Amino acid sequence: MFSTKEEKNRQLFESISERYDLVNSLISFFLHNSWRKDLIKTLKPKKGTRVIDLCCGTGELTLSMAQEISPGGEVYGLDFSEKMLEKAKIKQIKSHVDNVTFLCGNVRDLPFEDESFHYATICFGLRNVSNYADALKEVRRVLKPGGILACLETSRPSIPVFKELYYLYMRYAVPYLGGLLTGNAAGYLWLQESTWAFPDYKALMAIFKEAGFENIFTKPYLGGVTAMHLVTKPQKKATIPLFSGKGDEVACKKRKDNEQAENR
Ligand SMILES: C[S@@+](CC[C@H](N)C(=O)[O-])C[C@H]1O[C@@H](n2cnc3c(N)ncnc32)[C@H](O)[C@@H]1O
Repeated sequence: MFSTKEEKNRQLFESISERYDLVNSLISFFLHNSWRKDLIKTLKPKKGTRVIDLCCGTGELTLSMAQEISPGGEVYGLDFSEKMLEKAKIKQIKSHVDNVTFLCGNVRDLPFEDESFHYATICFGLRNVSNYADALKEVRRVLKPGGILACLETSRPSIPVFKELYYLYMRYAVPYLGGLLTGNAAGYLWLQESTWAFPDYKALMAIFKEAGFENIFTKPYLGGVTAMHLVTKPQKKATIPLFSGKGDEVACKKRKDNEQAENR
């Protein structure tokens, strides 16, 4: 079910799950929750809708989304780390949020029918997925036409001096702190390496476009340390059947006219 890279990644999150939230708060100077809140504020999900939160981890965004779309809406939180999900389920019980289902699975192979969701969210997860082009294809499949994918991801600042200082912070301070609190410094060093290896937020816009999304909106935070993207799955174009029996010629002409207009 998992590739070697995915299995290594999964084990990393299994090993840091206990203090994942605490380390996240410290290394982001307690900003990570305000970024998640801003994502929800910008997305403005409608009440009564269906949402999938991918790479949901300990469920921070999943539970907030569930409250936002109540009453009537439902949220699925999916992650491949059982231990991260255990943490999420404890939070769910404590917060009495009942419109969430947490499930273990791989983003590259979602256990849902085509066009099942109005919204998909992925928060600090896309960078972790070994083949993100496959993952985006899968997300596009389960979104309804017009559905929105909201992504929050670490990025690289472009401001001179700040960029270098941030690199040093990620390269030395973050693995030190992560190692101290979780015993897995290598895992946090990988956080830095994966951030530097991942496309920055401007390049990510092109990747969403290539994956077939449109209306790409991006918002960098703190000089580009993190960025939000909101992207839309295109609406289906009205198709005119080529051979509809009655009135075939008219239908054919309309279809040809449409194609010509599109090719222009
Ligand atoms: C950095 S954490 C983010 C967790 C959470 N979304 C948050 O905002 O804190 C990344 C999560 O992605 C999960 N993950 C990575 N690759 C995955 C995949 N292919 N399928 C499902 N989950 C994956 C990890 O288990 C981990 O919980």
